[in-house]
Amino acid sequence: MNKDRLQTALQDIPLGGLRFYEQIGSTNDIALSWGNEGGQDFSIVIANEQLAGRGRNGRIWQTPPDSALAFSLLLLPNSHEEKNISLFTGLGALALVETLRKYYALDAKIKWPNDVLINGKKLAGILVETNWHGDKIKNIIVGMGVNIYKNSVPEDLLFPATSLEENINNKADRVLLLHQILESFLKWRSSLRKEELHKAWEKNLAFRGQQVQIHARDGQIIQEGKILGINQDGSLRLDTHPSIHFGDVHLRPIQV
Ligand code: BTN
Repeated sequence: MNKDRLQTALQDIPLGGLRFYEQIGSTNDIALSWGNEGGQDFSIVIANEQLAGRGRNGRIWQTPPDSALAFSLLLLPNSHEEKNISLFTGLGALALVETLRKYYALDAKIKWPNDVLINGKKLAGILVETNWHGDKIKNIIVGMGVNIYKNSVPEDLLFPATSLEENINNKADRVLLLHQILESFLKWRSSLRKEELHKAWEKNLAFRGQQVQIHARDGQIIQEGKILGINQDGSLRLDTHPSIHFGDVHLRPIQV
């Protein structure tokens, strides 16, 4: 992966700008500062290696060199999108899930709120962050990390993980995958909040109909119940609780 190859491969995608780094701290950090410096809508930051990649809840996200797809999209939300920022994690996850189904015939699912699973193992994570101007959202950053080759999968994980390479027969191509994800992202972005997006998110939800536990950041169980679906605002609906919001929580299936 290099800047020339990316620019050529992505020339039909209406990007606001493209920045590629062989090695960087976090692509989300670059996208956040690019937004503050006047970066255009739908600009992208891609890195071959991240030294300070971030996951949700302050966790570290490892991106060793030549191993993964790590990128961040800088979005300048319109007034409708500003009001629906809680849907952008699902939007990013859905773009990846649709790509994996359509081009790789993989049974991918979204583990609420921000993980993409293949056969119950984590393939990717999404981290949405924002820049504010007073009380108005100026930028939405959608960061995505996808494990492509085996060496991208860390060993000491709380949840089992996998890579694209382990699930397909052909050699995985990060640039091609990125192109496919961006196409899908654009499509879903244009139907944000429409019933279609909500339905697709719900349809692709992992552990639907199963008993799960919702854990707080410190591991404490704060809720237990059967997943019924997703609400219009992206919160999770359990049979025991009408809406669990993103916050500092994570979900674990209960084996019964
Ligand atoms: C998670 O599973 O907790 C979310 C992981 C998000 C990782 C991506 S990699 C590209 C972008 N830059 C970061 O620092 N994080 C996101």
